[in-house]
Amino acid sequence: MTKSVAGELAGLELPVERGCPFAPPAAYERLREQAPISKVRLTSGGQAWWVSGHEEARTVLADPRFSSDRRKDGFPLFNLDAATLRQLRSQPQLMIGMDGGEHAAARRPVIGEFTIKRLAALRPRIQDIVDHFIDALLATDQRPVDLVQALSLPVPSLVICELLGVPYTDHDFFQSRTTMMVSRTSSPQERRQAFTEVRAYLDDLVTRKEAEPGDDLFGRQIARQRQNGALDHAGLVSLAFLLLTAGHETTANMISLGVVGLLTHPEQLALIKTDPGRTPMAVEELLRYFTIADGVTSRVATEDMEIGGASIRAGEGVIVSALSANWDPAAFKDPADLDVDRGARHHLAFGFGPHQCLGQNLARMELQIVFDTLFRRIPALRLAVPVDDLPFKNDAVIYGAHELPVTW
Ligand code: HEM
Repeated sequence: MTKSVAGELAGLELPVERGCPFAPPAAYERLREQAPISKVRLTSGGQAWWVSGHEEARTVLADPRFSSDRRKDGFPLFNLDAATLRQLRSQPQLMIGMDGGEHAAARRPVIGEFTIKRLAALRPRIQDIVDHFIDALLATDQRPVDLVQALSLPVPSLVICELLGVPYTDHDFFQSRTTMMVSRTSSPQERRQAFTEVRAYLDDLVTRKEAEPGDDLFGRQIARQRQNGALDHAGLVSLAFLLLTAGHETTANMISLGVVGLLTHPEQLALIKTDPGRTPMAVEELLRYFTIADGVTSRVATEDMEIGGASIRAGEGVIVSALSANWDPAAFKDPADLDVDRGARHHLAFGFGPHQCLGQNLARMELQIVFDTLFRRIPALRLAVPVDDLPFKNDAVIYGAHELPVTW
């Protein structure tokens, strides 16, 4: 039966740092045990509902009475400063912040780009990209190597080039600027500059594609647009930018953390080394275990309702903690065990409901190819520093590793 402290204020100030590199903060477990839906204070001011049970998280994320519109009053933007919020409110709405019919209309034309069948055509290119960076790793005499810069960041950047049909001659530019947008080694000014350059580049790319549409994502979107006026130029640029921002840093961090997870659980790594057929399930388990996008699945209630024993009022913010849900023992037995044979497909690392990650099949494919290829080609790979000394990204919305020194 659902326990609840509806109306009470539980003591959790957000965002909370993960305590040890892997486990969710201890407060998550305490809150989930007290009540799977409870109220928390936000460091940015105000309060929001905190959804931490697996069942309750799915209920909220599937319920159309919750809005994803970040511009609405009450939306729990615990991770955004005032300037970023102003910028967000001044820009055209992206699919991730739309609701209902408007959201479905924006998502529908792009779904076809991410089907397993369509992505299968990308597989050989992704394999080439991964091999290219591993060739470079093997060719260097330098030790240790920072895997974040050498593999985790460039691979998803180049995969997005493939997806968007960025010409080969622009790959270096695209990859260096997208890396600069998210790397710790860049200053805030460099990051802003890279952001502006990438946006301008995508604008120009869309203009070129409009002049000469090819057989790629933009070509197909432009053909549709000409048939029914679905997306205009600005809409296509925003779509490209959304795919880049949603798919680059997330996948990069998951590559790094997946490698850390496997290297620190050698018995699990041995299972996929001897039987690569297990890698797809290992990827699901790593996604569950790290749940890098925690709290990204925030919503605001659009009407008064009773859910999981909580009385939620219209205009109140709701933060669904996918990390807490993915460590809910009611859904995953012994959640602290990393078990590649678990069969963790019902995890919420990609969200749930209408906004469930559009690029999840692509992310899965990239992760599978990276882990299989990396450990096959560099079987002696190991961390060059103790795991507790690794600089984990505890301060950001997307959890990850700033740096990953490895050797072999
Ligand atoms: C490991 C990698 C990834 C993780 C953990 C991840 C996680 C998520 C999550 C949790 C959401 C749901 C947000 C919500 O409910 O409000 C989401 C949505 C989304 N993701 Fe991903 N993502 C990843 C990779 C990608 C990639 C590779 C792409 C595309 C290139 C992508 C594109 C999107 C888009 C477009 C949405 C919005 C979908 C919508 O609103 O309908 N993601 N992602």
